[in-house]
Amino acid sequence: PNNIILRDLATPRFFGAAANTSWLYHDKNYTEVISKQFSIFTPENEMKWENIEPEPNSFDFGPADEIVSFAESINAKMRGHNFMWGNQLPPWVNTSLTATELDRALQNHITKVMDHYRGKLYAIDVVNEMISDNTPNETFKDNIWTQKFGEDAVPKALTYARAVDKTPKLYINDYGIEGINSKSDTMYNVVKGFLADGVPLDAVGFQCHFGLNQVPTDLQANLQRFADLGLDVAITELDINLGAAFPGNATALAQQAQNYWEVVNACVSTNRCVSVTVWGVSDDHSWIPLGNPLPWNDIKQPKPAFFAIADAFEGK
Ligand code: G3I
Repeated sequence: PNNIILRDLATPRFFGAAANTSWLYHDKNYTEVISKQFSIFTPENEMKWENIEPEPNSFDFGPADEIVSFAESINAKMRGHNFMWGNQLPPWVNTSLTATELDRALQNHITKVMDHYRGKLYAIDVVNEMISDNTPNETFKDNIWTQKFGEDAVPKALTYARAVDKTPKLYINDYGIEGINSKSDTMYNVVKGFLADGVPLDAVGFQCHFGLNQVPTDLQANLQRFADLGLDVAITELDINLGAAFPGNATALAQQAQNYWEVVNACVSTNRCVSVTVWGVSDDHSWIPLGNPLPWNDIKQPKPAFFAIADAFEGK
């Protein structure tokens, strides 16, 4: 295992992780794994609105800068995360602004963050989790953005982002769109409409937060239909929650490994799938408390999932 480097096996794709400043440099073994294995990072929380612009036009870039500098130091890329989401908004954004004020706040936020990170972001999840869970009755989620801007919300964010900097790949990112289903059909129609209308969009991110043995069998076919629209696709937040099988006997860990293989293999089998990012590194630091969902265990030893990821990147 000491000589298996997933970022090398993934080439020409990127292998990534959600990075978190709570552990970067503070947890030695975490820092060692993260320094070696990945070629792209997403800040797990540090670029979210409540953290990076907690008060109007008052920015705290410190924690996100730490991750960006770390990535530069090991020649890894960055994915920004995120600009338009219904969660992790500071109260000043989520409450009293008029539509005009919110519009100015959104444009200012996108402009200041993208100016600060000019030249440093490979991609940005401009839009996160905006598709409704109640499709086809409703297209977009009910949140502050759709309450104030209706159907213009998502195109607004993408248009503001492209106006600042043409280089980063602009993503719409979501969960529950991994297989071919009503929600992914809605996403497909939304992005197809955007492309027809000239709304700037480069790619779709498929989060892939799965339970054990829940990887959709049509994941690759679904990635492919989005790629066929001329978009990049990426696996952006992969983890496999053991659920009832926690903490995971040998059988469960083997199933989990198989599930990781299925997801990475679907990406490798899709020409325009540019990256696989896991949502964390080791089980002890996952956002899921009792799920052991990641490729490294609590003591940062590689699990069967790690070797399955290697196999999939190698075409085995
Ligand atoms: O930093 C504060 C701390 O100051 C405070 O005392 C403490 C008390 O609750 O909260 C800390 O913030 C927490 C933050 O993680 C940092 O640990 C938030 O409460 C907690 O809600 C937040 O959770 C994050 C979650 O997004 C928020 O919705 C998870 O770490 C993060 O993994 C998760 O990531 C999301 C993606 O952005 C989008 N897709 C789904 C994915 C998983 O939910």
